[in-house]
Amino acid sequence: MQERLKELQTEALEKISTAADLKELNDIRVSYLGKKGPITEVLKGMGKLSAEERPKMGALANEVRDSIAAGIEEKQKRLEEAAVQEKLAAEKIDVTLPGRPVKTGNHHPLTRIIEEIEDLFIGMGYTVAEGPEVEKDYYNFEALNLPKGHPARDMQDSFYITEEILLRTHTSPVQARTMEKHEGKGPVKIICPGKVYRRDNDDATHSHQFMQIEGLVVDENIRMTDLKGTLQVFAKKMFGEDREIRLRPSFFPFTEPSVEMDISCKICGGKGCSVCKGTGWIEILGAGMVHPNVLEMAGFDSKKYTGFAFGMGPERIAMLKYGVDDIRHFYTNDVRFLKQFSIHE
Ligand code: DAH
Repeated sequence: MQERLKELQTEALEKISTAADLKELNDIRVSYLGKKGPITEVLKGMGKLSAEERPKMGALANEVRDSIAAGIEEKQKRLEEAAVQEKLAAEKIDVTLPGRPVKTGNHHPLTRIIEEIEDLFIGMGYTVAEGPEVEKDYYNFEALNLPKGHPARDMQDSFYITEEILLRTHTSPVQARTMEKHEGKGPVKIICPGKVYRRDNDDATHSHQFMQIEGLVVDENIRMTDLKGTLQVFAKKMFGEDREIRLRPSFFPFTEPSVEMDISCKICGGKGCSVCKGTGWIEILGAGMVHPNVLEMAGFDSKKYTGFAFGMGPERIAMLKYGVDDIRHFYTNDVRFLKQFSIHE
């Protein structure tokens, strides 16, 4: 019996030492120390022993059991410790690694230009007005002194939806709509940014959809000098104090007289270069004194009220300001282009 107990002890301790994980160790515990285990089995034969041997054997059995239990406990500690170490190694974080930057969005360069222009005019007392992109022929053309069949309609090749409805070709219809709302009473002082559409083939300087910003001031005693002064402030704020402007006579059906405004070329300082096509000047916008017909059609007394208007393309302004050589960059959403205008980097 004594030998059998010793044998069991050696066998168990050996198994414990080679146990690879906690599950295996638990199986050993159950098989050796459990009620149906071999030690219990051996102890059942105690009855056959003499009175002197019995306590000795009992003590030995306890010793064997204790040593197996101690062996298991010891091994369990080691296995648990190893598991913790393994987990730590697997989940190790190198806090010295540089962080991954979070990518942030950013205003589109055109939005930035438009907001800059809006802010400038808001600072001069203007309010921002809006109008529909799907517009009536009446507001897009007729109310702007472009009756049906007027040859100047050809300047703005249009997307018609029905005979009377089209995608607006410019932001000027907002002039007519706003004046109408004022019911013949001044002052009117608005700027109106928005999308416009023309049947153009897209190339480096044309896009079938682009932006415009319209300006309109109507009041008593508004003169051409007010227009010139306003445009001068705008040009200097937008392009730099050192820029000059010049007004050239032009034609728009909704203004009389009409002008086009140029700014002096910054690149060559007026000497002439490829950007200004050798002229020293760069065309920026169209403008003029609101045509009396336009005032009258919108319900204003053209004997009492006068006004000026202007219209510009923010893409063109952004292209000049940022040196962009193709209008399509604004609409093709190439992040490599857009990222250059990020204020976060
Ligand atoms: N609507 C014109 C265009 O799209 C731009 C323009 C010119 C607007 C003169 C105006 C203006 O208000 O006075 O070409």
